[in-house]
Amino acid sequence: MKFATKAIHSSYDCEEHNRALMPPIYQNSMFAMNEIGEQIPYRYSRLSNPTRKILEDTVADLEHGEAGFAFASGMAAIDAVWRTFLQPGDTIVAVADIYGGAYDLLTEVYAKWGVNVVFADLGNPDNLLAEHNVKMLWLETPSNPLLRLVDIPALAAKAKAAGALVGIDNTFATPYLQQPLDMGCDIVFHSATKYLCGHSDVLMGVLAVKSKALAKPLQAMMVNSGAVAGPMDCWLVLRGIKTLALRMQAHCANALEIARRLEAHPAVEKVFYPGLPSHEHHALAQKQMPRGVGGVVTVYLKNDTREAANSVIKNMKLVRMASSLGGVESLVNHCYTQSHSGVPHDVKAEMGIRVGLLRFSIGIEDADDIWQDISAALDTTL
Ligand SMILES: Cc1ncc(COP(=O)(O)O)c(C=O)c1O
Repeated sequence: MKFATKAIHSSYDCEEHNRALMPPIYQNSMFAMNEIGEQIPYRYSRLSNPTRKILEDTVADLEHGEAGFAFASGMAAIDAVWRTFLQPGDTIVAVADIYGGAYDLLTEVYAKWGVNVVFADLGNPDNLLAEHNVKMLWLETPSNPLLRLVDIPALAAKAKAAGALVGIDNTFATPYLQQPLDMGCDIVFHSATKYLCGHSDVLMGVLAVKSKALAKPLQAMMVNSGAVAGPMDCWLVLRGIKTLALRMQAHCANALEIARRLEAHPAVEKVFYPGLPSHEHHALAQKQMPRGVGGVVTVYLKNDTREAANSVIKNMKLVRMASSLGGVESLVNHCYTQSHSGVPHDVKAEMGIRVGLLRFSIGIEDADDIWQDISAALDTTL
């Protein structure tokens, strides 16, 4: 089956559920046993739950993995991966422009726990991987918020040669645009809060892994630490996934259109969108993400001040300022004070997170309406 069909039909057989066409929400913590020692598929929802299992299997199927896992938030899922596969003394090399929350978790928790944390520009990682005896390589491509890409197959091959596991944050791409397990990665992560859910009404993290050997310890971490996703949230994300292909096509088309118009606006210094020929990784994007590069477009304002950024934000009526992305509605994020607020100023400067940077999550409204709102607000900074 092709992607759009799988997204609707994967991992669910209505014959097993009273012919309910849509997966039921098993909103319960326990399952009854008839006798001591009875082997039943579900016992307690922390261990497993039928609605969660349908979602986990669907995610694994869409990512071409062996198993899937659904956690109560994206950060809970990332934490489960790192805690499962890293010990004090191990080294993790993470892409330099990693998501701010993941940066905080590494520097505030893992580094203090004794894990060596190395942030690196992964343009040329040869020596880096060998030198540090790396246990895990953590990628994020396209990255948040500057939408930098790394060459996944090339890096995964180098990591394998150095004996490292490769995990990847695939949130911005979704499995519709990029399937990293096919490119050599071992573990793929999504903040399902974003595009997989798609309607800004759920917090969730999901994982898909390449092998049963990786699934086993992760499963143990999940049930032991217990940050599992609830059945209602799993159902909402399953519903979101059914329209993922269509939504991503619309996000990509709108984002490209808005990115082109932003490039021509006098208030904008630079537009970051890998679908534009001006983007530093445009050629790689065309090769690695042939279906499109997603719905996020980031800009540097010419007037690089908090006042100018605030003026754009305050003057938009349709595009509201909010902390997340990936929903059907267009949003703007001031990364300096929102997604990357915990990152020290000098590190933000190295990452390219300026005070006059705005990250737009372009929704699936009419592109002309989105543009009218953004361009009128940009005019106020001239
Ligand atoms: C790229 C990326 N990774 C991870 C996360 C964390 O996910 P959550 O907020 O669902 O915990 C986010 C959230 O903004 C994100 O944008």
